[in-house]
Order: sequence, then structure tokens, then C-alpha cells
Amino acid sequence: MNNQEFSISGVVRPQAIDELAPSIALLKESIGRVRGVLYINIRRLTQMNNTAFHAFARVIIDSCRARPDLKFVIITSSVVGWTTRKFGRLCGIGANISVEEYDSEFYPGQSFLEEGEFIPILRTQTRITWRHERTILPRHGMQPGITMADICCGIGDFAALVQKEFQPSRIVALDHSRSSLAYARSVAADFDIRGIEYIYGDASEMLLEDDQFDLVTCRHSLQIFNRPELILKELYRICKPGGRVYITNEKNSHCLGEPRGESIQWTYNEVAKLFKYFDMDVELGPKSRRYLTEAGFADVRVESFTVTNLDGDPQDFADVIAAWENVYAGQMAAKRGDTPEFIRRFRQGFRDHVFAALHPKGYAGWPIWVASGRKQP
Ligand SMILES: C[S@@+](CC[C@H](N)C(=O)[O-])C[C@H]1O[C@@H](n2cnc3c(N)ncnc32)[C@H](O)[C@@H]1O
Repeated sequence: MNNQEFSISGVVRPQAIDELAPSIALLKESIGRVRGVLYINIRRLTQMNNTAFHAFARVIIDSCRARPDLKFVIITSSVVGWTTRKFGRLCGIGANISVEEYDSEFYPGQSFLEEGEFIPILRTQTRITWRHERTILPRHGMQPGITMADICCGIGDFAALVQKEFQPSRIVALDHSRSSLAYARSVAADFDIRGIEYIYGDASEMLLEDDQFDLVTCRHSLQIFNRPELILKELYRICKPGGRVYITNEKNSHCLGEPRGESIQWTYNEVAKLFKYFDMDVELGPKSRRYLTEAGFADVRVESFTVTNLDGDPQDFADVIAAWENVYAGQMAAKRGDTPEFIRRFRQGFRDHVFAALHPKGYAGWPIWVASGRKQP
């Protein structure tokens, strides 16, 4: 077995077929060397005219017939919608050609986080973390007039708060959830918030160009990818040399509360295990320093803060906990196939956390790690 990957990216619009000769030669060479599967990665192919499509398709179809031992897997992305349709036609021609839309299969657990049900959680979470982050952000490169991108922006409320408080000159907010982006755009329209570009994209393979932003933020999201280093590489790429990348992440097993501390602790340990089952690491917070350093960042800064029931209205925190219970002990536990007995105990810990948050002598906390690093000039 000797699988190979061949990538075609950007704009491919030749006037004449000769212009493609070097690329076609390279494709033929890769086919010659492969034993097993040839992956043709077109996730970043934004435009291709018919001249180019036919030239590449010809080579693939001919090789497919000449080499029935080979498998061709064409990897597209939902971000560039036309590619799946257009290249999908090749499947009908050769039995050993298949087309896979990368991002629809790749993040198995994340569908929980892309669906509408998560919206109330995100909205309340941002409201209660903003009180802390607004004072923390300037220590990590935030200042008026900068260009910034918020990657995995969710429902866009962080971008809106930043816009109001810091007035950057440009904000791009990207996410892979169409329902969250639709919500973000409607909120922006309702509140007459201008100047935020909400865009649909895949954080692991963005169509944004290199070296563009003074500050790239990615909040509560590295922890939901099974390979966070791939996302960090993209955040690094779009950041300007000398600019910073800012990430926030949790360590769920450190959520705490009193009274009923033991039950609360048991449940949040189980939250960490549940996410791990779906290949997500909600314990990532304290690992941020290592991730940023290994991704090549300099001047890595890490700090942590704890959201508590004493910060503002305790009901806000209680609402967040109730929303966690709803998704974690609801859809997620059911999908894992947990027993009713487990789910009952799992729910109890969240309810005890709410109890601690609302109790006049109670204390409830949710710790968050903030980290940033500078891209070397
Ligand atoms: C836990 S939420 C965090 C949202 C937001 N940053 C916040 O703090 O409220 C994770 C977000 O990542 C988005 N997401 C998941 N996979 C993505 C991908 N491949 N590319 C871009 N966004 C993605 C989800 O749609 C969701 O909005």
C-alpha cells in the first residue's frame, strides 16, 4: 500500500489546456506511484473552468480504466458547494471513484454543537464570560483600530461585544453552523450592528488569506476538535506576523460548587469523559500553553479566570448550567447509550450545581483558561 494525496487549490481558470501541462504531469506522476488510494484534495479549490475540469477528469477516468486496482477518493468541502456536485458526476463513470465531502463526516461529535439547541447556551455563556474577558483582552493584543477575526464565532455575540467596546477597523467572524450564522446576522440587523463580516467556513481549511489579522480569536472551540493543532495552524496562518492568536478553553472537571460538592464534582468528571467519547477534549484549558508553543508561537501568555455565581445575577449562571444539563445529559448521553440510572445521577450533579449557584450561602464556579501567543515576525 502506498496511498498518495494530490491537492488542487485556489483559482484554476486556464485559457488553454497547455497552461495546465505541469499540473497534469504531476497528477500522472502521482498516479504512477500510488498503490492503494489516491486522495484528490480539492477542499480549497474556489474556482475551476470547464477546460480545467475536463483536463483533470480525463486523466482520472483514463487511469481508472487502466488501473482497476486503484481507488480515487476526491475530497471536497461543503464550504465550496459546487465541487461536490461537479466532481460527483465522476462517480457514475468509474466504479473506483468516490467523492467525500470532508466536513460532513469529519467531526462526528460536533453536530451537537452546531445545532440550534446550543444557541441559548452560547448566548448566556458569552454574557457571563464577557465581564472577565473585556478586561483580559487588552493584555492579549486587543486595541481599537486593529483588524481581527473570530474563528468558530458561534452566534456572533462575542464579535458584537468586541465591536462595541473596542471598535476594531475590521472584524471577520467565521463559523461552520449555518443556523448560528443566520442568528448572528439577524441579531446584527435588529440591533443595527454594522461592520462585522459573518462568513461560512471550515476552520480547519479556511479560504481566508495568509497574514491578514492583528488578532485572531477562537473561543471555546479548540477543545471540540479531535486535532486542535490543525486548527491552530490555520489561526497562525491568517494572523499577521507580530499579531496574536487568542484562545479560550475549559477544564470541565474543575467546575465546582458548595454545598453538594461531591455530586457536582462527580458529574463534571463525567462531562469530561462524555466529550472524550466523542473525541473532544474539554480538559484542554491548561494544555493551551503547550499547544501554542508547539504551534510556533512566541511570547505565550496564559491566565485563568473563574465565572462564579457572585459575578452578577446568579440566575444567569444557573441558566448556563441548566442548558449544559439539557444537551449533555439529553442528546449526548442518549447518543452514547447511557443507562437511565447513569443519566439520573448525571443530571443530579447539574441540579446540585444550580442549587449551589442560587443558594444564599452557596458558591458555584466555572474555570476558564485564556491563552495567546505572538506569531513571529
Ligand atoms: C463551543 S462553540 C463556541 C462558539 C463561540 N466561539 C462562543 O464562545 O460562543 C463551537 C463553535 O464551533 C463551530 N464549529 C464547529 N466545527 C467547525 C468548523 N469545522 N469550522 C468552523 N466552525 C466550526 C460550531 O458551529 C460552534 O459555533
